[in-house]
Amino acid sequence: MKKLTTSLMLTISYLLLLTAATPAPGPWVQTLTKGNKKITKLHFYVHNLELGPNATVYRVATASITSTSPTSFGQVNVFDDRVTAEPDIKSEQVARAQGTSAYADLQAGAIAMTANFYITSGEFNGSTLVIAGRNPLLEPTRELPVIGGTGAFRLARGYAVVGIYLYDKAARYSVLEYTVYVISRRHMLCV
Ligand SMILES: *[C@@H]1O[C@H](CO)[C@@H](O)[C@H](O)[C@H]1NC(C)=O
Ligand SMILES: *[C@@H]1O[C@H](CO)[C@@H](O)[C@H](O)[C@H]1NC(C)=O
Repeated sequence: MKKLTTSLMLTISYLLLLTAATPAPGPWVQTLTKGNKKITKLHFYVHNLELGPNATVYRVATASITSTSPTSFGQVNVFDDRVTAEPDIKSEQVARAQGTSAYADLQAGAIAMTANFYITSGEFNGSTLVIAGRNPLLEPTRELPVIGGTGAFRLARGYAVVGIYLYDKAARYSVLEYTVYVISRRHMLCV
């Protein structure tokens, strides 16, 4: 009886230890299990602010054709956007989206985008996730590839579904809603 109690207590303290060692992921991060595969799902909002003292997007170049191009062809922007788990820009920052976008389609409004998502909070703090690809600006929903990462996202592969959450044309402010599905090295190692 005593032996049983001891082993039970050991089991309980082991479980408590496990719980303490792996903090529950924040609400914007989830681990999904599909068959024997594990996928990290991230959900967040990216704030694109083009005007005012807190602007995070700046035009750095144009081409000879840009001003007469219906698709702003040749314009290049650099951005360092605030990323939050909640839609409100004043809510807690969880990452920065840093990168460039080049208007790269002569026929349609589409950009060639490279964005490094630099995580600044939670269990992935300091890791980066790289999303790059064609971003058709007029589509209500776009899909972009996850092409790599660092830290927790080493060897990352996946995709992002991007939608427009808010667009204020006068304020030149838009909020993009990202849902990202990632498989990374930590899913391949047997832990
Ligand atoms: C700019 O950011 C600061 C600090 O977050 C904030 O207090 C201020 O209201 C913002 N200004 C504008 C115009 O949004
Ligand atoms: C994230 O990491 C940085 C540097 O490694 C550290 O200064 C910061 O306090 C960390 N933030 C959180 C929310 O853990």
